[in-house]
Amino acid sequence: MKFFIDTANLEQIQEAQDLGVLDGVTTNPSLMAKEGITGEKNIRDHYLKICELVDGDVSAEVIATDFEGIVKEGEALADIHPQIIVKVPMIKEGVKALKYFSNHGIKTNCTLVFSPGQALLAAKAGATYVSPFIGRIDDISSNGLELIEKIRLIYDNYGFETEILAASIRHTMHVIECAEIGANVITGPLSSITGLLKHPLTDIGLEKFLADYRKGNS
Ligand code: G3P
Repeated sequence: MKFFIDTANLEQIQEAQDLGVLDGVTTNPSLMAKEGITGEKNIRDHYLKICELVDGDVSAEVIATDFEGIVKEGEALADIHPQIIVKVPMIKEGVKALKYFSNHGIKTNCTLVFSPGQALLAAKAGATYVSPFIGRIDDISSNGLELIEKIRLIYDNYGFETEILAASIRHTMHVIECAEIGANVITGPLSSITGLLKHPLTDIGLEKFLADYRKGNS
């Protein structure tokens, strides 16, 4: 299972990278804006910095919504660095672009996926990753994890190679439940990954081991 971090914040990306378990980064226009990164050149430079920090895939999202625009922008993004994955929205023009990129050897991440049918289309179009947004589904009183289960079943039924990238992860339990279902990748905030470390019995046990060591060596 791959761990991606869902941020454009370089300090958090570095912290996750230093932990030694990071496989990549996902970004979106909202996350870039949150870091104050605006303008084509600054955005390109920021993607390059992220690629230099991590070893794995870095999703960079297109802004265009027409086929020609998505292709032009996606090709320019892919040219920035070999680690760049072109993030394309799940719209009709996006599906056409996914197929184009797949035919031209450019890796993609199909984003804004909220239904099994959309995930099926993304796989048919040859997307490298599909990003179902589980947190946003939970936000509207539905069940994001059920969507991951349905996509897993559909992909396994037909042997689709598109990787399920569970996105909009909000907390550590989402990560664990996605692992149980068999999502290929999760992307979430740093806290959803570092939360996996935590157990009170670990802290209590360590404190006792160290206290006993000190007693024996004093
Ligand atoms: O990057 C896409 C997705 O992970 C967004 O998450 O928290 O804005 O719903 P969120």
